Amino acid sequence: MAKNEKGDGAAAPGVNGRAYPLTDHAYDVVVVGAGGAGLRATLGCAQAGLRTACVTKVFPTRSHTVAAQGGIAASLGNMGPDDWRWHMFDTVKGADWLGDQDAIEYLCRNAPEAVYELEHFGVPFSRTEDGRIYQRPFGGMTTDFGEGPPAQRTCAAADRTGHAMLHTLYGQSLRYSAEFFIEYFAIDLIMDEEGACRGVVALNLDDGSMHRFRAHKVILATGGYGRAYFSCTSAHTCTGDGNAMVLRAGLPLQDMEFVQFHPTGIYGAGVLITEGSRGEGGYLTNSEGERFMERYAPHAKDLASRDVVSRSMTVEIQEGRGVGPEKDHIYLHLDHLDPDVLAERLPGITESAKIFAGVDLTKEPIPVIPTVHYNMGGIATNFHGEVMTAVDGDADRKVPGLMAIGEAASVSVHGANRLGSNSLIDLVVFGRAAGLRCAETVEAGSSHPELPSDASDLALARLDRFRHADGGTPTAELRLRMQRAMQSNCAVFRTGDVLAKGKSLIQDIWSASKDIKVTDRSLIWNTDLIETLEYDNLICQAAVTVAGAVVRTESRGAHAREDYPDRDDQNWMKHTLAWADDDTQKVRIDYRPVHTYTMTNDVSYIEPKARVY
Ligand code: FUM
Repeated sequence: MAKNEKGDGAAAPGVNGRAYPLTDHAYDVVVVGAGGAGLRATLGCAQAGLRTACVTKVFPTRSHTVAAQGGIAASLGNMGPDDWRWHMFDTVKGADWLGDQDAIEYLCRNAPEAVYELEHFGVPFSRTEDGRIYQRPFGGMTTDFGEGPPAQRTCAAADRTGHAMLHTLYGQSLRYSAEFFIEYFAIDLIMDEEGACRGVVALNLDDGSMHRFRAHKVILATGGYGRAYFSCTSAHTCTGDGNAMVLRAGLPLQDMEFVQFHPTGIYGAGVLITEGSRGEGGYLTNSEGERFMERYAPHAKDLASRDVVSRSMTVEIQEGRGVGPEKDHIYLHLDHLDPDVLAERLPGITESAKIFAGVDLTKEPIPVIPTVHYNMGGIATNFHGEVMTAVDGDADRKVPGLMAIGEAASVSVHGANRLGSNSLIDLVVFGRAAGLRCAETVEAGSSHPELPSDASDLALARLDRFRHADGGTPTAELRLRMQRAMQSNCAVFRTGDVLAKGKSLIQDIWSASKDIKVTDRSLIWNTDLIETLEYDNLICQAAVTVAGAVVRTESRGAHAREDYPDRDDQNWMKHTLAWADDDTQKVRIDYRPVHTYTMTNDVSYIEPKARVY
């Protein structure tokens, strides 16, 4: 039992005549999610002497960060000249000028320190001959403000970097006595009448008990929502639970139309083949054996940014130069590389290629296809991790008590397109920033005001509604319809007509959710119920994603409109904010300005220009 627990059954509210006894807990900080960002924030808060709990629906080292392969970007300069300002330039350009430049400066200048901290915590990075952290090239990472050769900036632990980080951060969090509530599913935030977040309600999956966590700060580190799509590299757990909690709290999500397709998911299986494979010298070919990236990105070639490579592959397939019997995928070659290099630097994908594609990558190419990989959009925050909303003309109004980090957040450093290996660095830089902010703003052990009398109503009513849902449509059927609609109607290339159809399909599926059927009424390890709560989280995110995409009549980063092929800075250099009303099932869209200023005078604002690689 957790030591801050106030006692079982402290409150026993009922819904529809059914009692849901609550166990109350009080902490200074509650982090929801135990991936790289959640663990880094948990560690930082615990180190600062704050009573810190981490609530997570999976065992921490099974969080999706474990699947991150190629590495973590930081301008250490171990393999050649580098500078955090070059990293900043690349990130601004990669984001297609939708990123907030103050936040991008914060990310890139703090990246080296965050990586050295990881090293000192014990992350087993691969090493150079002289013992420094090994760094490989990754897409869009250059030197000399885009004018020089590719930068070797991505620090790697072979191709299992996320795995190494996650295990190290979990161990360190335990060292500082953070408390973990493992296999607890967070259902909803507790918001008060002033609009402040006061805690979170969660279900213990193991015994079906309900828990109310009070906190001075709730930090959402709940990851992305890749599972809104049919084929993605994300784990089945990536259902954006925190994003959906934010929508249900009446707050907006930002830039949700920007969904990243990773160029090299294994054809048919969706499993990731790291971009590090192209960093080590891998290349793509079409059915004519042509290294086609030379035509699309004459300088960066296979190491252009992900949106560019994914689009080029899609064009090759659409123009009939795909490989395989259906001509519907592309080959990735690593068979020319030294087998010792593959064994040392890419052991994980060597195994994945064998298991999921039946390919010995020392001898044959891997069949690959662009696959949903990352959500640039999410919960709008500043670079301290504090959640922001737009109220009465104030576009950067803070939501007291609520923070968000990692893929769940839109800080916004990735803007319209994220560079590979900027995700892991985002997790640790902003996880660390959130810990520092909590240390500054929370008094350890301070008392909590009384909760509003209806504090748990939203969560319990939602849980009860789905637990006893007795309609005619199984969750799996609705989920599949949603995933197929997103895959075909909100894809790499988009047009107004295709998106409008997608919006209408998603709206129909959302309405049909009223007829959802759950068969298992128990509360103990009820996967039927949990998958339904997760589906309900996904469908509102699908709705805001497609709604934002329909109205953005330009092409920028991952949002490629065939009917509006150009970037339109005049009208669209602005963040989309989208609210979703669960009752009326309506989406409302508004905008907030991109931050066109830097954090310090050490760097100047990087003016928009054409984005070529
Ligand atoms: O390709 C990869 O290894 C993925 C890295 C990333 O998404 O940052």
